[in-house]
Amino acid sequence: MLDTPIIEVRDLKVYFPVKKGIFGRTYYVKAVDGVSFEIPEEGIFTLVGESGCGKTTVGRTIVGVVKPTAGKILYKGKDTSKLSKEEYLEYRRNVQIVHQDPYSALNPTKTVFQSLAAPLKRWGIAKSRNELREKVSELLELVGLNPPGEFINKYPHQLSGGQRQRVVIARAISVNPDVIVADEPITMIDVSLRIGILDLLLKLKEEVGTSYLFITHDFGAARYFSAKGGGSIAVMYLGKIVEVAAAEEVIQNPLHPYTKALISSVPVADPELSRKRKPLKLKSLDIPSPLNPPSGCKFHTRCPYSTDICSKVEPELKEVSPGHYVACHLYQG
Ligand SMILES: Nc1ncnc2c1ncn2[C@@H]1O[C@H](COP(=O)(O)OP(=O)(O)OP(=O)(O)O)[C@@H](O)[C@H]1O
Ligand code: SF4
Ligand SMILES: [Mg+2]
Repeated sequence: MLDTPIIEVRDLKVYFPVKKGIFGRTYYVKAVDGVSFEIPEEGIFTLVGESGCGKTTVGRTIVGVVKPTAGKILYKGKDTSKLSKEEYLEYRRNVQIVHQDPYSALNPTKTVFQSLAAPLKRWGIAKSRNELREKVSELLELVGLNPPGEFINKYPHQLSGGQRQRVVIARAISVNPDVIVADEPITMIDVSLRIGILDLLLKLKEEVGTSYLFITHDFGAARYFSAKGGGSIAVMYLGKIVEVAAAEEVIQNPLHPYTKALISSVPVADPELSRKRKPLKLKSLDIPSPLNPPSGCKFHTRCPYSTDICSKVEPELKEVSPGHYVACHLYQG
C-alpha cells in the first residue's frame, strides 16, 4: 500500500464574492477552480504560475485560513472539515505557512526572542525562561543566524530582509510541523540572498524532515528548488492546473504551451538546452481578468497554437505519458 500523503487536495474550489456595478451585483472570482494534488511525506510539491492564478489561495486553504467553496483538504488521510477539536488544533500546528513578506510577518515591537518564544509557549514545547532561551538559540542556529546571541534580542528593523525571513522560517519550524507552505519565500528578499533561503529550506527538509508546498511565480526558483529537492511541479493558470508531472519531466519535457512560455523566459546556463528552448512568442502578455475568464481553454487569448476548438471547449487535465498530465487540445487526440 502506498503511504498516505501528508496533505491531499481534492477538486478544490475557492470562489470569492465581489460586488460590482451601480446595482452592486455579486460576481465570483474563481480563484481556485478544481485543483487536485498531493504533498507526500518529506516531499515537495511546487506550484508555479503568474500573479493572480490562485497559488496563495491554495496555500491559505491548506493551512486552514480560507474555507473551500467546494472540494476537500485531507490531512494524513482525514478530511480537515471533519476533525475533532483536538485533531483540528494538531493539524493547524502541523501545517505552517511562510509568507513572501518578511517585513510584515514579524511584529515590529517584539524582539526575535519574543517572536520565537510565543509559539513555543503556546504549544507547550518549552516553558521556563531557560528552556525557552535554549530552544530559541537552537532554532536560530538551525536557520543560520549565528551566533544566536547576536540576534536573539534584536528587533525586526535591526535585521536585513534575509535575516528576517530566517526568523520567520525559524518560527514556522519551531512547532515541529509536518508541512510548510512556502509562499514566494524569496520574492521580497535581495537577489543575492535568495539562494541562501532556498538552500536553508532544503537543508531543513533533510535535517528535520519537513515537507513543502513551494509556491512561486518564478520558474527559475521552481527549477532550483526541485532540482535539489525533487518532487513534482504543477503549473497553474487562472485557477486551474494546466500541467503537472515529476519536476525533472516538466523541466526537460514541458508540453503545455503556457509551461513552454514560462520556461523559455528563464535563462539557462547550459547552451545546448538554451538552443533547444526557443522563446515562445505569446499573442498577448496580458493576463485575462479572473472575474471574466476566457471561454474554452482559458489560455486561448494568449496561446500561439490556439485553433477553433480552443475557444469553445475546455480541455481536461489528461495523462499523456506515465505521470505527466496536461490540459491542452494539442494532446487530447
Ligand atoms: N479575499 C479575496 N477576495 C476577493 N478576491 C480575492 C481574495 N483573495 C484573492 N482574490 C483574488 O483571487 C485571485 C487569485 O489570487 P491569489 O492571491 O491566490 O493569486 P496568486 O497566484 O497568489 O497571485 P500573486 O502572484 O499575485 O501572489 C486573484 O484574482 C485575487 O484578486
Ligand atoms: S488548448 Fe488550445 S489554446 Fe489552450 S493551450 Fe492548448 S493549443 Fe493553446
Ligand atoms: Mg500569491
